[in-house]
Amino acid sequence: MKNAKDYIIFALDVDTTEAAKKNVEMLAPDVGMFKVGLELFIRSGPDIVNVIKKAGAAGIFLDLKLHDIPETVYRSMRIISDLDVDFVTVHCADSKEMITAAVEGSRGKVKVLGVSVLTHIHENNIRAAGFKDEFCSDISKLVLERTAMAKAAGSAGIICSGHEVKTIKSRFGSEFIAVTPGIRPDWGQVAKDDQKRVMTPAQAIKNGSDYLVIGRPIRDAEDPGKAAIRIKEDIETVL
Ligand code: C5P
Repeated sequence: MKNAKDYIIFALDVDTTEAAKKNVEMLAPDVGMFKVGLELFIRSGPDIVNVIKKAGAAGIFLDLKLHDIPETVYRSMRIISDLDVDFVTVHCADSKEMITAAVEGSRGKVKVLGVSVLTHIHENNIRAAGFKDEFCSDISKLVLERTAMAKAAGSAGIICSGHEVKTIKSRFGSEFIAVTPGIRPDWGQVAKDDQKRVMTPAQAIKNGSDYLVIGRPIRDAEDPGKAAIRIKEDIETVL
């Protein structure tokens, strides 16, 4: 049985190894997994995985959002699969072949998650990028199209906003993992920052999300430890 903390993936969006270590030590009791994104990976390199594990992390999510020709993605994923991490991300904005290459390269040692549509994207961005009208008027349609591609390519799950989770779960099955960023608690000063399609922790879990990616609402809180606990309590209300 999953506890409230197991749903929380804290985004380690910090620019030094030291800061990452401090955050892991502080938040490990209240957070199930830590996400390493480009900023920290570029700073610290693959060694950051061991630093985080030693500092007490249960799980690691390597958020590299790969997007390249299938051969390059396959070869990169083979190396990632040796790092002992739980999840890794690839973009779904390319092709089924690219995601298949990622899954093959992962060799069953790390779960591949597809990034459907980033949660800062607005309909105007989709229009400016030249997408069909049906996607411009309803981003969820694009999310579902890309989720179908990720599933057909054999990925373990998808990154999507809380608004699409219900449909994704009913269409692609409860085992297909849904990870939701764009989480904003509804207490205190709520800043959406650059996120557009946001949701509270409890709402996203109620809709069926398996994990929530949460960065700034914890990192930038006056007391990050307390913010994590409050988010955990919010999740508990719907378990
Ligand atoms: O909670 P906050 O907005 O700070 O979360 C930002 C983090 O979530 C960043 O690490 C970003 O890469 C990640 N993110 C994501 N997918 C999205 C939106 C944000 O992985 N669709």
